[in-house]
Amino acid sequence: MIEFKSLSKQFGKSVVLDGIDLTIEKGEITVIIGPSGTGKSTLLRCVNFLEHPTAGEITVGDLTVDVNRASRAEILSLRRRTAFVFQNYALFANKTALENVAERLVVVDRWPKEKAYQRAQEILERIGLADKADAYPASMSGGQQQRVGIGRAMATGADVILFDEPTSSLDPEWVE
Ligand SMILES: Nc1ncnc2c1ncn2[C@@H]1O[C@H](COP(=O)(O)OP(=O)(O)O)[C@@H](O)[C@H]1O
Ligand SMILES: [Mg+2]
Repeated sequence: MIEFKSLSKQFGKSVVLDGIDLTIEKGEITVIIGPSGTGKSTLLRCVNFLEHPTAGEITVGDLTVDVNRASRAEILSLRRRTAFVFQNYALFANKTALENVAERLVVVDRWPKEKAYQRAQEILERIGLADKADAYPASMSGGQQQRVGIGRAMATGADVILFDEPTSSLDPEWVE
């Protein structure tokens, strides 16, 4: 599902990732641990070129990209295959849980509102938040807000979900 070959990333003279080789199979859940500042976020951000790697090859599904020859179309394609759950969940404070999950379907994928809300409701049911559909982020617990963030990632239909430090408030019963 994901493969890195000799992946490197430098910020100026600072080598943060030095020839990383890693293969992650479909269905695998892989956790990267290590002290603060060792490059965990940078590695995740390289998967979809939020950071442009310095050298190496990245594969997501059936797309392999040489980072020095990556075209705009290839980068967009990598981005479509991956979804990010950010550390602060990046929810819209003025939108309900349902609207947060449906937002992308309406704005990016241009689904009719009714269809998008129906799909968003199905996702909320799957992540155990059906009863919070009309709640705003400020009235939800950290773990619930995070699940809305996960619901948003699920709504993208991406093959891979990348989590940057998600565990602090994730309820164990929702880790599958
Ligand atoms: N945009 C950037 N410019 C320069 N240095 C950066 C940038 N982003 C991260 N770094 C540096 O790269 C190293 C790894 O950072 P990061 O990937 O955020 O680590 P982690 O997520 O493991 O805590 C750190 O030394 C950090 O200062
Ligand atoms: Mg980090």
